Amino acid sequence: MDASSNPGQSDPQSVFPETSLVFRSKNVRFLRSALAVVVLTGQLTIGGCRRSGGAKPLGAAVKIPAPLGLPPVPIPTNNPPTEESIALGRKLFYDTKLSKDNSLACASCHSPHLGFTDGLSISRGVGGMTGIRNAPTIVNAAYLPLQFWDGRAVSLEEQAASPIADPVEMNQTHEVSLTKLNADTAYKPLFMAAFGSGGITLGRVEKALASFERTILSGNSSFDQYQYGGDKRALTAAQVRGLKIFLDSSKGNCAACHSVGNKFALFTDGKFHNTGEGVRDDGQLSDVGRFHQTGVESDKGAFETPTLRNIAKTAPYMHDGNLKTLKDVVDFYAGGGNSNPYLDKDMRVIKLSGQDRSDLVEFLQSLTGEMPQNIGPPEK
Ligand code: HEC
Ligand code: HEC
Repeated sequence: MDASSNPGQSDPQSVFPETSLVFRSKNVRFLRSALAVVVLTGQLTIGGCRRSGGAKPLGAAVKIPAPLGLPPVPIPTNNPPTEESIALGRKLFYDTKLSKDNSLACASCHSPHLGFTDGLSISRGVGGMTGIRNAPTIVNAAYLPLQFWDGRAVSLEEQAASPIADPVEMNQTHEVSLTKLNADTAYKPLFMAAFGSGGITLGRVEKALASFERTILSGNSSFDQYQYGGDKRALTAAQVRGLKIFLDSSKGNCAACHSVGNKFALFTDGKFHNTGEGVRDDGQLSDVGRFHQTGVESDKGAFETPTLRNIAKTAPYMHDGNLKTLKDVVDFYAGGGNSNPYLDKDMRVIKLSGQDRSDLVEFLQSLTGEMPQNIGPPEK
């Protein structure tokens, strides 16, 4: 990492492309304003001593380098990442002390060996408790305008504390977590180095976790080398055909939601859509998704478009982990998703031959990218 530039100055609006291969301008405007709101709210709620961790990290901000195919990482002005805060976040991410019976760390459900997911349909918390949703990858979550499948957290900072207290995840009150961290003599100097005096607070735990998560980036995949690196041999013939289908609005139409820009690709529009995943046999939705947050009827059964980077490593798929393979996913889209009153207008039956389907799967496999070296468990 290079300390020469101040990432606090990075323009968050630059994350979403000016023009993109199939973007409709309406989406771009929406995203730019949505992101601006996120950054603004981030400043208001997190910057303002909400949890007595209000102070910025001490020390020189480091620039988090974005690999080929990714835009600059958006950084909230009140939490510029430093070497110390990132290292602290990394230690916390892998620490089982944040769970009630010391059995689970963040990394138990977001494991570096499984593309930062858990490989399960539905995650299992402390004591085997199950929630209702699949653990999404946190790779490139730094770019998401909202966190969680239903967008209920506005920033990585805000997201970070909730799994700790969630009864079906780590199931430990924040008070107990802070007591346990205080009792571990290793942490005091690390918090001091990252944030100065003022001790171990929830706000600081959140900031450190968020800064570490912002370093978990994946780009420079075969797709990126082909699309943005000028290496026309980086993709196989089947993958090139699959890419075409992916982008073609009269064929796969995938990029209508899994955005691909002119200079970089997040493979998500950061918006919420109903694909019909989770519609039960009786036609009812098993999870109302975004509606939970907004109460807007048309948001029923809508979930945030997930990134597709490293998708070959993060089976099973969808918010309920219901689809086991990429082939299952492609077949699901070919059938137009599951019909229900709230189905997105971009979902429709698509004519895809057997060859088209296997080309699409091959293409999705080209999205496995390079990961930074220093994101695994820290050395003791
Ligand atoms: C028991 C498993 C489990 C543990 C432990 C866990 N998570 Fe998660 N995580 C999930 C699930 C499941 C979701 C999706 C929940 C939802 O959307 O309602 C999620 C969502 C997220 C997201 C949102 C990503 C996105 O694409 O929207 C982030 C970021 C995240 N977790 C970080 C963390 C951090 C940091 C910790 C540790 C403090 C942690 N998680 C601990 C299972 C877990
Ligand atoms: C209308 C927007 C939209 C379109 C069009 C679309 N997707 Fe999706 N995609 C989503 C949303 C939203 C989800 C999450 C749905 C859920 O879990 O309920 C998703 C999930 C996925 C997943 C699973 C990701 C994960 O981490 O679990 C894959 C793979 C995928 N889409 C590939 C494709 C492909 C391939 C196409 C084109 C054939 C496509 N998508 C078209 C919005 C869309």
